[in-house]
Amino acid sequence: MASNVRGGPVALGFDLGRPTRGASQGGRKAVAPVVARPVQTQAKDPLMQVSKPKPARESFAFRLKPRDIRRHLDRFVVRQDEAKKVLSVALCDHFQHVRLTREGDVAPHYVKQNVLILGPTGVGKTHLIRSAAELIGVPFVKADATKFSETGYVGGDVEELVRDLIRKANGDLERAAQGIVYLDEIDKIASREGGSRDVSGRGVQTNLLKLMEDADVPVQPPGEAASSPGPRGREQTINTRHILFIASGAFAGLGEVVRKRLRQAGSGDARGKEGAPASEANADAAGLAEQSTTRDFIDYGFEPEFIGRLPVRVSCRSLDAGDLFHVMRDSESSVLRQYERAFRAYGIAVQFREAGLRRIAELAAAENTGARGLMTVCERILRDFKFELPSSRVRELVVDRAVVDDPAATLRALLRRKRSARA
Ligand SMILES: Nc1ncnc2c1ncn2[C@@H]1O[C@H](COP(=O)(O)OP(=O)(O)O)[C@@H](O)[C@H]1O
Ligand SMILES: [Mg+2]
Repeated sequence: MASNVRGGPVALGFDLGRPTRGASQGGRKAVAPVVARPVQTQAKDPLMQVSKPKPARESFAFRLKPRDIRRHLDRFVVRQDEAKKVLSVALCDHFQHVRLTREGDVAPHYVKQNVLILGPTGVGKTHLIRSAAELIGVPFVKADATKFSETGYVGGDVEELVRDLIRKANGDLERAAQGIVYLDEIDKIASREGGSRDVSGRGVQTNLLKLMEDADVPVQPPGEAASSPGPRGREQTINTRHILFIASGAFAGLGEVVRKRLRQAGSGDARGKEGAPASEANADAAGLAEQSTTRDFIDYGFEPEFIGRLPVRVSCRSLDAGDLFHVMRDSESSVLRQYERAFRAYGIAVQFREAGLRRIAELAAAENTGARGLMTVCERILRDFKFELPSSRVRELVVDRAVVDDPAATLRALLRRKRSARA
């Protein structure tokens, strides 16, 4: 089926081979070194021959180095150093491979570096991938793996991910074919300890693994395919060979699987050879997850072929109150910017003081939802201010420790002060 996208070097209509400029050139902070430019020439990519020719199209030349990606991620994501490094390398490897392939330098035995990120909720897994995809300028889709296990029969569905990429690329098949698919909650499709759900979990794994390697996906969903054939009456397809898959999950219970193996290794079990021996002392969940091996993922409920398609693995650590303070103060995507903007819309200047932020961070850490807790706490504290201040004469709000500890009292005092000032 659709052998038009298989094998062979493809020549594209844009200048991939040009000498590259450094990412830091121009002296500006974190200049995106990806240059999008319209290309007028008719591309010779066989993939594009089946898509409608467009007068002018955007494309990109990949010219990033791992440090460029790392530097970009540092602007938005606090901590997670190992994940940043691993991702930077995996993304560069992948997109350099895509570039070389298109330039005619084909590696027939290339193994795709799909990534598995482990870690609790709200610690930046999605944020990392989304930020990297923005920098690279490739289409990005995110989906929960659980979405696929809920369909009564497993099949077809996972291909919707690729069609989502085409939508994200505004119908540009060539851009979609080098996008990033992010699959969250991948741990939920492990098939553990019998039960009806397991069958579907295994089925989803089987479908995904084909997609993750090299599959031709019909551009039209099966039902619509017949009514809208491609320009030459053939079914249009898109190949997934150059789509990078990144999976993530909390993997609750994986630590237990690892612990069990390590304990057996200690008592002379042959399987222990695969993993490094760990002292029980540093055997916290995150630490154990980092010591996990392919064997552990299989014991956790993954098919060997499936977990084998995710060769790059890394953990994100949980964020403590100190980290959450930095998330608020230092990250360019800080939730504080959102609050400042919301108040600014009514002409109110809001300032966050360090003591207030430290307290918010403490309260958020207690929520145990990672950086998501920050929004929960800020929302609770600032809710009444957001309701009252726009209709008042207050034009300035300083969020200090007192506001965080007793928002109602400080709001009352603030409104009273304004009223008496007016009287
Ligand atoms: N390490 C971090 N640095 C900065 N912001 C973060 C970090 N972790 C999470 N956030 C913030 O919390 C939100 C939720 O994080 P997300 O990446 O979706 O979590 P998850 O790890 O569950 O995928 C993000 O949109 C981001 O604003
Ligand atoms: Mg997420």
